[in-house]
Amino acid sequence: MMRIDVISAVPDSLISPLNTSILKRAQERKKVEILVHNLRDYAYDKHKQIDDKPFGGGAGMLLKPEPFFECIERLLNERKYDHIIFPTPGGKFYDQKMANNFSLKENLLIIAGHYKGIDDRVREKFATDEISIGRYVLTGGEIAAWIIIDSVVRLIPGVLNDSESALNDSLMDGDIIEAPYYTRPAEYKGLKMPEVLLSGHEKKIKDWKEEQSKILTEKWKKINNLE
Ligand code: ADE
Repeated sequence: MMRIDVISAVPDSLISPLNTSILKRAQERKKVEILVHNLRDYAYDKHKQIDDKPFGGGAGMLLKPEPFFECIERLLNERKYDHIIFPTPGGKFYDQKMANNFSLKENLLIIAGHYKGIDDRVREKFATDEISIGRYVLTGGEIAAWIIIDSVVRLIPGVLNDSESALNDSLMDGDIIEAPYYTRPAEYKGLKMPEVLLSGHEKKIKDWKEEQSKILTEKWKKINNLE
């Protein structure tokens, strides 16, 4: 079973995201074990302090190195990690290829810090993968951790049911966007759906889906300045 550890200064923020819907089911089915460690549990001083003022000045507080080192070293004493992931706006842009790669591994560790909020020696000493989930700044790495975990866990065999299969998803076999989907009612508030989907004509439906996929993929490339 895959194991994913997360270290966070605000572990409560991950309780609901990691214990809802498919991620919840994946853990119940013993496809993955996800453990969130509270950084504060590894602060051994009287006040359990986890942050401090930055050297050289500047706004805001930094997460101190010692609790991270204590927690990570304890985890590393127990097992090897295939990847120690550090979400940061300065990292490599996350994509499906990276998710596919992570999904084949045994043990992942994600260090959720804060932008400008974590002593850089933690990254320097432990991070094997610095990952950005996009060109914007979040309040912390927890949301990035959720995104990475979600995209990885759904790829583990047996997590999705056949009907939810990840195999023909958008972006699974390269950068392909799927045709749109519709369900009942066939007409709603005057809004119709494509007739062909009601035709029962398998070949025509297949051709329509391919055509739509092509159009949407081209549009997607254009609006994102790709190729
Ligand atoms: N932490 C703050 N912003 C982030 C981003 N865009 N990607 C990953 N981690 C982050």
